[in-house]
Amino acid sequence: MEYISHSAADTERIAAEISKSLHSGDFVALYGPMGAGKTAFTRGLVKALVPECLELVHSPTFAIVNEYRGKALTVYHYDLYRLRSEDDLISTGFEDYIDGGALVVSEWSELFEDALPKERINVRIEPINDTDRRITVC
Ligand SMILES: Nc1ncnc2c1ncn2[C@@H]1O[C@H](COP(=O)(O)OP(=O)(O)OP(=O)(O)O)[C@@H](O)[C@H]1O
Ligand SMILES: [Mg+2]
Repeated sequence: MEYISHSAADTERIAAEISKSLHSGDFVALYGPMGAGKTAFTRGLVKALVPECLELVHSPTFAIVNEYRGKALTVYHYDLYRLRSEDDLISTGFEDYIDGGALVVSEWSELFEDALPKERINVRIEPINDTDRRITVC
């Protein structure tokens, strides 16, 4: 499936649309360069899936992972950019989150692809220009 986004708000809307086909336990691997809109996409997912979560979705770059806990679902939002090793990833609770029935989203999936579950939803965000993005889901 391919979408074209013309703004950050558009990307959030597309993420909300895609969220309709997601289930607890799914893993969403985001790919794309710096500033592509991976955090914007995650914001759209969390707004749609955990609407009672009032915390603003921001880049977890410094924390590695943010947790958005809702009644029906918890979303773990990873940013793998500053992670040094797979051991560091595991020490964040990664494997428990994956097996624990939460929805896990990762930014910079290209950096630790081997550590990601084989069964996952890949979302590639390619900048076309300043405001347009091609979003491919497979
Ligand atoms: N179509 C678009 N979709 C998403 N963001 C867009 C779009 N057009 C412009 N932008 C801008 O691009 C930036 C995307 O930032 P965002 O933090 O979501 O990217 P990111 O992929 O998470 O970057 P990083 O690799 O640093 O984590 C924002 O400033 C946003 O306003
Ligand atoms: Mg980001």
